[in-house]
Amino acid sequence: MSGVAADTVSVSSRPMRVLGIETSCDETSAAVVSGTPEAMTLESCVILSQDVHRLFGGVVPEIASRQHLVGIVPAVDAALREAKISLADCDAVAVTHAPGLVGALLVGTSFAKSLALTHGKPLVPVHHLEGHLFATLLEHPDATPPFTALLVSGGHTLLLDVPAWGEYRLLGQTRDDAVGEAFDKVAKLLGLPYPGGRPIEQLAATAESPVHKHPHRFARPMLRKSATPGDDDYYDCSFSGLKTAVLYAVRDAERAGTMDAQRASIARGFQDAVIDTLVEKVVRAARQHRRTRVVLGGGVACNQALQGAMREAMTRRKGDVFAPTPRLATDNAAMIAAAGIFRLLRGEFAAPDMTATASLPIPGMSSAG
Ligand code: KG4
Ligand code: ZN
Repeated sequence: MSGVAADTVSVSSRPMRVLGIETSCDETSAAVVSGTPEAMTLESCVILSQDVHRLFGGVVPEIASRQHLVGIVPAVDAALREAKISLADCDAVAVTHAPGLVGALLVGTSFAKSLALTHGKPLVPVHHLEGHLFATLLEHPDATPPFTALLVSGGHTLLLDVPAWGEYRLLGQTRDDAVGEAFDKVAKLLGLPYPGGRPIEQLAATAESPVHKHPHRFARPMLRKSATPGDDDYYDCSFSGLKTAVLYAVRDAERAGTMDAQRASIARGFQDAVIDTLVEKVVRAARQHRRTRVVLGGGVACNQALQGAMREAMTRRKGDVFAPTPRLATDNAAMIAAAGIFRLLRGEFAAPDMTATASLPIPGMSSAG
């Protein structure tokens, strides 16, 4: 990984205390986490959400960077205060260096570099998605590998097999829109606010029809029953066709003047199609790799209907599903500090030339069929 000076693996298992910093998108966050991956304690977590982007219906990169610059010092101060410690009490500073909006990442990485340098602390670069994998561990100590992971956010849709921390086998991903992005775009079509995931979930819950008799039963994307593990569409997903199907349904309803009556049913039809697809792909992965644990991460993992359907499917296989509470499912620095502890214990520190990168594979990720 660029910008990382890695010593040999597993240098220590001593409990560590790490200050985490996250600025990859539109949350300015700082947190303190202590322990080891076997037992972690969340000492504080401060998240400043940039609500200003709602006005624009999406994240405006330059505004995000400027807001991070405004929020970063108060966020770090508050995280240390809440944990009742000073930076001198921390073993390291961990910061998200990839992937994300580069301008936003640069604020966090520049600040973390200076902080670590002036206080003589090691700096640990953390991949944002590895952070999402560790988020669940902070609330569920049993959410440890081996497990099947589904990362579903506004920017990513990844299905992974995780035999051990640091070993990530990429099974499938989206070929077009990320799941959260599809929620946000469909919300816009339905006249709902940004970000659209929660409003769609709330609206869908008011739809009356039972799922199997649903008036808006959209085709399930890439869910060929005859697909087998070697096939491209066995694990991959696609949501742009579903989004187009919603667009046609909205147009039909508008033409018929029945949009108000049909809005909830369309939201439900869209959400059901997404959930069926994700549940089937996760069950396929758990079955093929003989995993009994499923870990969900990313903002879309807040969706209770998704969590419920996943639990139902995995309970049938005598498995468990672990999902973080919304505070830790969406972007936060606690997950960065947690992943930072793992990387710190492996002796991985930032090299002086560490920089921010918009797109980068998770360290330790390999392709697997
Ligand atoms: O992980 P996250 O906070 O930020 C990114 O890294 O993208 O995820 C944000 C995404 C948004 O697209 C939002 O609409 C979606 O998560 N989201 C949801 C729900 N809550 C947030 N999607 C479906 N159902 C929800 N309840
Ligand atoms: Zn995220």
